[in-house]
Amino acid sequence: MKRSIKNFEDFRDALSAYRLPRVLLAALELNLFTVIGRNTWLLPDLAREVKVSERGLSILCRNLATAGLLQKQGSRYRNSALAATALNADDPAYRGSYLGLIKNHWNDWLRLMESVKTGEPLDKDEPEAPDYRRQFTWAMHHRTLETAPMIASQLSLKGVKTLLDLGGGPGTYAMAFLSKNPALRATVCDRPAALEVAKEIAATHKAGARLSYLGLDLLSDEIPGRFDVIWYSNVLHIYSPEQNLGVFRRVRDALVDGGRLIIQDAFLHDREGLFPEEAALFAVSMLLFTESGNTYSVADTTAWLKEAGFSSVRTVKMAKGKEDWEGGILEARVPGVSSKTRALRRRSAQNSRSH
Ligand SMILES: C[S@@+](CC[C@H](N)C(=O)[O-])C[C@H]1O[C@@H](n2cnc3c(N)ncnc32)[C@H](O)[C@@H]1O
Repeated sequence: MKRSIKNFEDFRDALSAYRLPRVLLAALELNLFTVIGRNTWLLPDLAREVKVSERGLSILCRNLATAGLLQKQGSRYRNSALAATALNADDPAYRGSYLGLIKNHWNDWLRLMESVKTGEPLDKDEPEAPDYRRQFTWAMHHRTLETAPMIASQLSLKGVKTLLDLGGGPGTYAMAFLSKNPALRATVCDRPAALEVAKEIAATHKAGARLSYLGLDLLSDEIPGRFDVIWYSNVLHIYSPEQNLGVFRRVRDALVDGGRLIIQDAFLHDREGLFPEEAALFAVSMLLFTESGNTYSVADTTAWLKEAGFSSVRTVKMAKGKEDWEGGILEARVPGVSSKTRALRRRSAQNSRSH
């Protein structure tokens, strides 16, 4: 999406864009989609059930119907297919943890001026609680449970035997890669509280038997083992350029010769770092919630990767609408061993065996 505000009307429209989100949040706060469930409701009955005024609910429901989330027939309302599933706490497809995260973000974004003034995150004095990490990890699962299989089906891992999902959180991506590639073994690396969630999710998948777990601090700990591919998704934006360079250096040492680091993030693609708009806006979240995070351009990230010793860097194109972020995948390769060196190594191994 590319929005350009050229006149006062454009400005007013952009500024008033909070209205529908506030209506959606009010519906979530009332658990409206859950209460409606699979039934058709008359407004007075529904108003009694959720304990709000009939007038208020009628205007709210009408707008939810305009947005396509409810179906309206006279004063009867029922859920759309989406509202009856992903937004309904009684449905197995409910994505409540992610909805909860977005609800909290509304309140956090109201405090944006605090972070703009200080340059610091809102919770800078609060130590990370395992409970928060657990909730956040479930939210990440609910965020990507449809996207991860789409990415896995487009990203070729032919011949890849081992993959590390670094900062993999719930392991949703690792699970998607494992499901798609039956010969693959994967390791998800994250903080202990996140790994607990990853284990619970993997236990519900057959491919989960090929997933291992690695608890470490990816900013400071050495990564044990050597992998064919390291998948680094949605972590780059949490950290500063210097921290990312440090991670890239350690990641390089944890890859086999010719191995690949595949980064997924909200990359900016133009010279000034303005677009896509979603990636520019995401930087505001990083201001609110991280000490040094930001969104980065492909050009800057490529420069850090080269500095860390990666040889070739390229963007990997996904089909439009079947990606996490627009143009959001970058692949970097560790220099491979040439066939000449491989032949020399083979010969010297044979020689040492025959002596
Ligand atoms: C935004 S989530 C992304 C999760 C997943 N990779 C995805 O794409 O959905 C970032 C993850 O990185 C992990 N992470 C961030 N900094 C870390 C660190 N220093 N050590 C270990 N894990 C870290 C977080 O715990 C979290 O699970």
